[in-house]
Amino acid sequence: MVTYADNKISPACLLVLLLFVVPSYAMFSTMVTEDEIHTICTKEDINSSFCFEVLKANPKIARLDFSGLAKFLLNYQAQNISDTLKQFKLSGGYTPDIDSYIFCDTQYRLCKELYENALDNRESALKYLAAKDYDGLNTMVSGTLTDMFTCTDDLSTMKPVPQFFMTKSNVIKDLSNIILVIVECFLRKEKILCPSRDL
Ligand SMILES: *[C@@H]1O[C@H](CO)[C@@H](O)[C@H](O)[C@H]1NC(C)=O
Ligand SMILES: *[C@@H]1O[C@H](CO)[C@@H](O)[C@H](O)[C@H]1NC(C)=O
Repeated sequence: MVTYADNKISPACLLVLLLFVVPSYAMFSTMVTEDEIHTICTKEDINSSFCFEVLKANPKIARLDFSGLAKFLLNYQAQNISDTLKQFKLSGGYTPDIDSYIFCDTQYRLCKELYENALDNRESALKYLAAKDYDGLNTMVSGTLTDMFTCTDDLSTMKPVPQFFMTKSNVIKDLSNIILVIVECFLRKEKILCPSRDL
């Protein structure tokens, strides 16, 4: 026979429940799921194959919540910006075609400045993220996106088009778009700026 006393949760048991079960449940419940990654990667403006490649290839991501994922991607993107900036500096705007040297130099200098600006955005972006200031965060991430568009517009006027830098800049754009979806569709409560296609 089940007595009333048997059904009671002892204080010690309750303590175990509060200390271990509740926090781990809270942790798991906020982690980014496979379904949510699918939602992010199939949104408008997202390069899906690239998005899946980045988000699935990194086992770390399975342990992150949305804020952690945004932080991971901001740092990942900053690494790409800084690597490409180094290449810009090494190339010094040089192309083998002497006639286009001065012309190229102008484009490379502009891109170098845009890249430096984009790299500077990371610190503010991380601060805004920590402060849950999603307007500020959006401004920084969109700023990087605009910098990359300005750079690729300019590079595409060169002959021949420097494909290496175009590709790198496009990857950085793609990352900005992924971060913006995370901010607008998952971190921010009012989903006004979340691209259509229902969650
Ligand atoms: C998507 O990203 C991949 C990998 O960076 C790239 O090869 C491809 O051109 C991109 N697609 C579009 C539509 O930008
Ligand atoms: C971007 O940075 C990440 C992290 O450092 C690196 O694994 C990836 O290969 C880089 N992508 C490109 C296109 O440089």
